Amino acid sequence: MSVWAGRRVVLGVSGGIACYKSCTLARRLTEAGAQVDVVLTQAAAEFIRPPTFEALTGRPVLGSLWEPGGALSHVRLGHAADLVIVAPATAHLVARLAQGLADDLLTTLLLAATAPVLLAPAMNDEMYAHPQTRANLERLAARGIALVGPEVGALAEGPSERPGRMSEPEIIMAHAARCLRGTAGPLRGRRVVVTAGPTRESIDPVRVVTNRSSGKMGYRVAEAAWERGADVVLITGPVALPAPVGVRVMRVETTTELEAAVREALPAADVLVMAAAPADFRPSDPSDSKRARHDGALAVPMEPTVDILSATRSERRAGSVIVGFALETGDAMAKGRAKLERKDLDLIVVNDALEPGAGFDVETNRVALLDREGTARILPLQSKRQVAEGILDAVERILGR
Ligand SMILES: Cc1cc2nc3c(=O)[nH]c(=O)nc-3n(C[C@H](O)[C@H](O)[C@H](O)COP(=O)(O)O)c2cc1C
Repeated sequence: MSVWAGRRVVLGVSGGIACYKSCTLARRLTEAGAQVDVVLTQAAAEFIRPPTFEALTGRPVLGSLWEPGGALSHVRLGHAADLVIVAPATAHLVARLAQGLADDLLTTLLLAATAPVLLAPAMNDEMYAHPQTRANLERLAARGIALVGPEVGALAEGPSERPGRMSEPEIIMAHAARCLRGTAGPLRGRRVVVTAGPTRESIDPVRVVTNRSSGKMGYRVAEAAWERGADVVLITGPVALPAPVGVRVMRVETTTELEAAVREALPAADVLVMAAAPADFRPSDPSDSKRARHDGALAVPMEPTVDILSATRSERRAGSVIVGFALETGDAMAKGRAKLERKDLDLIVVNDALEPGAGFDVETNRVALLDREGTARILPLQSKRQVAEGILDAVERILGR
């Protein structure tokens, strides 16, 4: 189930030009299953009229402490909310909040709210760089208010090399999900290292040996772990996926590079999820020049690459949770159990490459989770994101033992 299903979100909108993007944000949150109450400042209502948000959220829009029927709405909304997002947060709104002013519905509600608060500041780059704005934002961050952006990019008045532009709605949603989920739970503040994608090994300067891994499974695990409050490092082979929000990405190409990156990351890792599909073999003598077709048949002698989980075993931190994957063809469970023991893993995610809808380069997966205690959990065919949540539930159970 989506993190947003049934959640009550107050979306505060203050009077910045970026409030046209708040319409998309309101729409996305509503589509994801949240109940969204939009609260506009007076300046925001100059930019976008309430019926736009009412149509997008299916809920009445509030703007004043003094509206008929709105008495005490600041307390009611502030208490009922699971999360308050202010996007855009103008320099003026940030200043008022930093001072604790309560001179309209939104600022009064922000003082009364008990839920986490996320601000997406957006303003002219000079306004953002102003020492007073910086001091206001620092004060709010020190009070536990979460901030997303602003980013470098085009402003309404033209291009800019400095921060000021509001983060895009998808990025605000990812941060909002972390605010909702990442405040408690065993993964909060833990270092999670995830590997993803294939590796590739040179045959000659233009050709490689690789495999069909898309990286989707590892990317979904990294995304979900960050949302649960972890500090995530994603070590990825060459794939065509956008970097997950909030995650530190390290790019590698060969199995040797992947091993070096895992070796470096392991001593600080509380959890390693080895979802990458490293090439198990590589050309033993790659050519320095391109082999031409007219040279005739091409035989490429191959040698095994390093077994990363076994080779880096001594780098593991005591008490860390190590998760491996076993993508097998036939008798997957028995092969998975043997691999768990051979590689000294805490959990292994087993799937059958020949099963429809499972394995490489598809959106779904059907896996079984085997742990050291001998427990086997068979998850249904579901999206890779849902499988990632199932894997992290199992990791959290192990961390909690
Ligand atoms: C066209 C226009 C665009 C503006 N864009 C921004 C902006 O992006 N960020 C900002 O902090 N203020 C912006 N302002 C100024 C705010 O609207 C002004 O400071 C207002 O008092 C903010 O009130 P509020 O914070 O209560 O919504 C803009 C003003 C105008 C007229």
